[in-house]
Amino acid sequence: MAAPVRDAASASDAGAWEPQHVHLGLRVSFAAGAGRVRGAARLALRCAREGAAELRLDAHPSLAVRRAALLPPGGNPPGETLPVRCCPFASYGSALHIDLPRPARAGERLDVLIEYEAGDGPGVCWLTPEQTAGKQKPFMYTQGQAVLNRSFFPCFDTPSVKCPYSATVEVPEGFTAVMSATSWEKQNDTTFVFKMSQPIPSYLIALAVGDIVSAEVGPRSRVWAEPCLIEAAKKEYDGVIEEFLVVGEKLFGPYVWGRYDILFMPPSFPFGGMENPCLTFVTPCLLAGDRSLVDVIIHEISHSWFGNLVTNATWGEFWLNEGFTMYAQRRISTEIYGLAYTCLEAATGRALLRQHMDNTGEDHPLNKLRVVIEPGVNPDDTYNETPYEKGYCFVSYLAHLVGDQSKFDAFLQAYVNRFKFQSITADDALAFFLEHFPELKEKGVDSIPGFEFDRWLNTPGWPPYLPDLSPGEQLMKPADELAALWEANSLNMEAIKAVDITAWRVYQLIYFLDRVLEKSPLPEGNVERLSKMYPKISKAQNAELRLRWCQIILKNNLEAEYSKVKEFLHSQGKQKYTLPLYRAMWGGSESARALATETFSATAPQLHINVQNYVKKILGLEVVDN
Ligand code: BES
Ligand code: ZN
Repeated sequence: MAAPVRDAASASDAGAWEPQHVHLGLRVSFAAGAGRVRGAARLALRCAREGAAELRLDAHPSLAVRRAALLPPGGNPPGETLPVRCCPFASYGSALHIDLPRPARAGERLDVLIEYEAGDGPGVCWLTPEQTAGKQKPFMYTQGQAVLNRSFFPCFDTPSVKCPYSATVEVPEGFTAVMSATSWEKQNDTTFVFKMSQPIPSYLIALAVGDIVSAEVGPRSRVWAEPCLIEAAKKEYDGVIEEFLVVGEKLFGPYVWGRYDILFMPPSFPFGGMENPCLTFVTPCLLAGDRSLVDVIIHEISHSWFGNLVTNATWGEFWLNEGFTMYAQRRISTEIYGLAYTCLEAATGRALLRQHMDNTGEDHPLNKLRVVIEPGVNPDDTYNETPYEKGYCFVSYLAHLVGDQSKFDAFLQAYVNRFKFQSITADDALAFFLEHFPELKEKGVDSIPGFEFDRWLNTPGWPPYLPDLSPGEQLMKPADELAALWEANSLNMEAIKAVDITAWRVYQLIYFLDRVLEKSPLPEGNVERLSKMYPKISKAQNAELRLRWCQIILKNNLEAEYSKVKEFLHSQGKQKYTLPLYRAMWGGSESARALATETFSATAPQLHINVQNYVKKILGLEVVDN
């Protein structure tokens, strides 16, 4: 096996050791305000560097290491106690040094047991009963991506290495534990046993404990949610998941993970979805009642091939995970919903990229696909739309070079097959592309002026190639035209009333609102009239519509509707909803700024710590290391 790529965001010596297996033995407790995971991590290792005399792992100041011990492979504790030291590494983690009694020989196997306690770290989130949907019992979950699992358990916290894991989790009576694992077994009332049989990177190990129940929605799928949400969860996805998996398998090859389940998280979950293998974690905002936000599920399912099977070797290559996944998501969507609808959805993605580049400036160093993550820089701070939508454009460009969809689909399948269970860089991916299409290699497609692969990867800016979204024209045009009508100084109400939006799809409304937002501020009074005219929009419960409506309120400084912004920010904590709204408030009027301050002081405790810190940065407040 090739040595892992050096990862500046990990303190571990992943090059010296090959992890064979991780076992977590955990006990979760929920004392008020002091939730704890007490546990032991057992790492089965194979020495890859002759003479390695220490084991270095990623850890975090919030992780209290009690003891480390050396065990013979498969042997029983207590084993031989080893000296441990925790040293500073970066704002987001520390280095755990464990001295071995003697240097290891290359190929030698040993087991290291680390007893520890995890508390309130950035990767382990503790919610009070009030922060759940049911408001009865507390809830805890872990979120590993990108570099947070080092506060959950000591590990090689780099996507460059993979191994299977197992876990035993003890919880208080009346709670259920779930994990990103192949199998879930309830040993007794309070003990759950998990086994992930495929090798995965550490960021995909995830745990949630709460008052949760499940319901079947397909032959290999169930939804998990708090009891008060389970009916809605089942209704949203009953009978629809299997088709996504089947189409994914047809396009990209076998689904290797066994089950595909979905866990609905409490409202403060910072992402739309997180592709924890076998068990995607999603925001409850997806419970729109009409399946309109199902693209998030298709996206997370697509990670089953791109990201979870073929993984970016470092977070600087994150676009390999997200760009390929966006492409795969839209391939599945095209097969199921057709090209017109998928182009419409992709156009809303392009609008997000436009907004992002306008905010940051096209030349911002984060607006290249391959990001240089300097030592000390938190990979999570580099998160933005570029890896998603510029990544999507680059993969679409590769498809365009091939010129035949079925040949490109076959390439994607070959790519997954070639690199499955491995971690790779863009160079590996592109070399394989050229190898797969020797005639393109011969033509020198990697160096067509203006479209050089090197430029795609290493130059910031707007994508040099945009896929043709005109098949979505029939859905976009009415929305474009309606937005133009609302932009006028004196409104042509007759023309406006002639447009019936009642039958529009949610994504058409989203597209329309993005257009209105682009044109905002509209002439005085127009947004008020728009609001009255379309209660379907201004009173929408759908989170994507609410986000856009709030953005429009702020850009037009519609103080009368500020309460909508406040309510939306109180109701959920998704990063991609929260940050744009705080940016808009802080860039707005005095009263908008006051709204920001007031809303943040009321909602900060319920936001994920990363989201809290990003909002603080926007508001110019001091950020303390987490
Ligand atoms: N893996 C990401 C979420 C993530 C990214 C977590 C970086 C931590 C660090 C997930 O697959 C994702 O992209 N979710 C999107 C879904 C959307 C693009 C359909 C989201 O949360 O909005
Ligand atoms: Zn993703």
